Amino acid sequence: MTKENLIQTAKTVLNNNFNEDKGFTIPCEGLYPFQWNWDSGFIAIGFAHYDAVKAKREIEALLSAQWENGFLPHIVFHNDSDTYFPGPEFHLSKLHPLASKSHRTTGMTQPPVLGFVLKELYNIIDDKVDTLNFIKANIDKVFDNHKHFYTHRDPNQEGLVYIYHNWESGTDNSPIWDDIWATMDPPHYKFERRDTTHVDPTQRPSNREYDYYLHLIEIAKAHNYDDAKIAELSPFLVQDPLVNSMLIKSNAALIELYELIGDNADKIETLKQWQTKAIARFNEKLFNEKLGAYVHYDLRNEKQIEFITSSSFTPLFAGIPNEAQAKIVIDTLTSKFGTEAHYLCASFDPESDRFNPKKYWRGPIWINLNWLLYKGLKTYDCTDLAKRVKDDSMTLIQKYGFYEYFDPRKDVKDNAGYGGHNFSWSAALFLDLLKS
Ligand code: DGY
Repeated sequence: MTKENLIQTAKTVLNNNFNEDKGFTIPCEGLYPFQWNWDSGFIAIGFAHYDAVKAKREIEALLSAQWENGFLPHIVFHNDSDTYFPGPEFHLSKLHPLASKSHRTTGMTQPPVLGFVLKELYNIIDDKVDTLNFIKANIDKVFDNHKHFYTHRDPNQEGLVYIYHNWESGTDNSPIWDDIWATMDPPHYKFERRDTTHVDPTQRPSNREYDYYLHLIEIAKAHNYDDAKIAELSPFLVQDPLVNSMLIKSNAALIELYELIGDNADKIETLKQWQTKAIARFNEKLFNEKLGAYVHYDLRNEKQIEFITSSSFTPLFAGIPNEAQAKIVIDTLTSKFGTEAHYLCASFDPESDRFNPKKYWRGPIWINLNWLLYKGLKTYDCTDLAKRVKDDSMTLIQKYGFYEYFDPRKDVKDNAGYGGHNFSWSAALFLDLLKS
């Protein structure tokens, strides 16, 4: 396919997945029939290149389901669908007294990308006056969301926020969580999987893994999604480098945008305080000298989880490492993930025996993580490696199409695009990478 044809196809994917009536975009048909939080952020960046109205509607639709305490849920169930499990009747977000009154949602969140997405929209869309007006109308909601994170998800007040569910990390079935599952013994729930009717089950989490996922939600539901209770009781309580990097990058973007808007000295001051504390603690607590990478911290069991994932490189995007740390992290990326055998960047350490190149977040390449890595490497002037990440992303899309994830092995003979097809953020970020 020529570049022009690919651009056209990417726009068709996004337009077909956009729900005109409700103003949001599904990640892909069948598999994910609702609005997902961080998907929407990346999708808005794609729309910004050719349809500013849709970009803005996407963000507004997500924010319309914000809870009264600032919390932003991971899924908004704008519509009914029987193609997905677990749906709104399982999550029952209304158990929380401050949940959205107008929308059914989940009671968990996802990596907080909206702050830097607003900044991206400002940079991309030509009409700066109109875009800044849109940002003015919405920025306080994003600020309130950050406030919720720092107030309710940081029990030690150390500047790092926790997640209580693997779905909050975005990296759903990463091998990172295996050791946490080993501390749990949930019931064998009876439920009907829907994802495996759309996608080859070998590319999706196992049924037993779903027991863990559902059990964590049941614990939260038993306490009406109360953050303090979850912090006290959830067997899964993790400080995730990806989630915290997105928050830190979004803090920085909010500071810049408030400065552009003017008149918000108090919020800028608060953001700067969060930022200084967060970056210092991140470098202290999540950097692992031995592995030469940032890692996850298991707050429930008080220890680092010593594995390298594509999340380990996201601090580059947020400008967190100093020059020396950045060099170490980039050396690890090159030597372990960037060998001749693999496209960049596998979602899990290819040298580990937990690596699986076909299974969702246990090895495959994801375009959004590549986009974060590309931008991060550019921030640290690693132009050649950044170009390699971009070229590899383009090659995979050109060879296989707009899949949800891709096999990182270069010698795969068959189709190496896996999961959902016509996947929105792959299309959206392809459009952005072309212009970056
Ligand atoms: C899923 O259902 O696999 C989703 O990624 C959860 O957010």
